[in-house]
Amino acid sequence: MNYKILCVDDEQIILDALDRLFRHVGYQYILTAHSGELGLGILENNQDADVIIADEKMGNGMSGSQFLKESMSFCPDAIRIQLTAYSDSDILVEAVNEAKIFRHVRKPWNNKQLVQIVQEGLKQRLLKRRENQRLDKMTRAAKYYRAESVRLKKENQELASNLDQLQESIGQTASKTNQSFLDTLLFTMQYVNPTLWQHSRRVGKWCRLMADAVVEDGQSSMAFPADFLEMAGVLHDIGKLKFPESLWRIPVVDLSEDQKKQVSMHVEDGLWLIRRMPDEVRKILRKPIRQHHERRDGKGYYGIFLDQIDDWAQIIGIVNDYDNFRFSKLHGGPLGPLEVIEKMKEDVYSSSQQIGKYNERFFDIFENLSTNISDEELDRTESVELPSIQDVTSGQILAEDLYTVKDIFFLARNHMIESSDIEKMRIYEDEDNGVRNIWVQSSQE
Ligand SMILES: [Fe+2]
Repeated sequence: MNYKILCVDDEQIILDALDRLFRHVGYQYILTAHSGELGLGILENNQDADVIIADEKMGNGMSGSQFLKESMSFCPDAIRIQLTAYSDSDILVEAVNEAKIFRHVRKPWNNKQLVQIVQEGLKQRLLKRRENQRLDKMTRAAKYYRAESVRLKKENQELASNLDQLQESIGQTASKTNQSFLDTLLFTMQYVNPTLWQHSRRVGKWCRLMADAVVEDGQSSMAFPADFLEMAGVLHDIGKLKFPESLWRIPVVDLSEDQKKQVSMHVEDGLWLIRRMPDEVRKILRKPIRQHHERRDGKGYYGIFLDQIDDWAQIIGIVNDYDNFRFSKLHGGPLGPLEVIEKMKEDVYSSSQQIGKYNERFFDIFENLSTNISDEELDRTESVELPSIQDVTSGQILAEDLYTVKDIFFLARNHMIESSDIEKMRIYEDEDNGVRNIWVQSSQE
């Protein structure tokens, strides 16, 4: 056994007896000292001693209990056993308390008992060490988990904040994408069908203003998001891009049944045209586009009535009719704003107890808006196409990139035109490579 035992006694015969006893039972590392002073000297170099046995009475030197007490500074964990011939219990109690003595053994001792005491001491110490290790491990684990929990909490907060930023940036990107998609569609419409473009633009603008006004009136902004309501307004008649030229010339009242059916197809065609849009956008645009000709009295394309009709579709329905009465020859226009409102009012409130066409609340809000916003305020365009370079003046800001007829890039959008640019345009024109499609930002005075 690899335990180290130090025996201290002033009698050599006792030391020899202890040495023999412990070697006999298998302990191989036995140290001996004739006095407490010598014992402390040995311990100074053997601080790993496991068992210290000391006789209480040792000549004129320090007592056994004093030695055992001082041994604690070198070997605090050692098993301390006191040999004594005294029966004075005070000495024993004092020694047990002060020197942390494991046991005291009366001389002459019983060999078997002494060995058992040593074994018991070593066993208890082993158990105590294991328990301490377990506690230490638990304490370290608790400390680790506490630190880890703090770290994770911090990491979580950082992740949450990153996620917020990411979502915000995705939201901004999606919003920019939607906006540029809408711009592109309007741009396309402008080329293909300027009448449809103007109508769609105005309906989109009214829809945006309606969304803000409806929210101000107490509805949730989640239910009436201005960006999407504007988009629905712009796209509500997109299916009309497929109209044959002839349909744009026949007044509504003169349409044959077949032609009416053909006109009504623009709703289905519109839904067909938005089918490649992102799911989340297509889903919210579907009902407004499909139902914008439904009326509360059930006399629309599909016979849907009252609140079966989507709210956005009811708003677009009001705005769409208003704009058609105001500006479309095919719908009996042009008429003045008040004239149209009065005409539509007849269809809002029915004197004969019948259901009107329009949602009263939305109509009231729209009436209020339409009397406060002039055509000029609504129709203010962001950019305008100049017919030729004769109309270009320095100080104008390009709304689109400028290319020559031979597709040479000339100037970028947002560039402020200078007189030297106009000079160059003239030179290009003389070389049959003039600039084309000159779009400038309209002045906002
Ligand atoms: Fe329509």
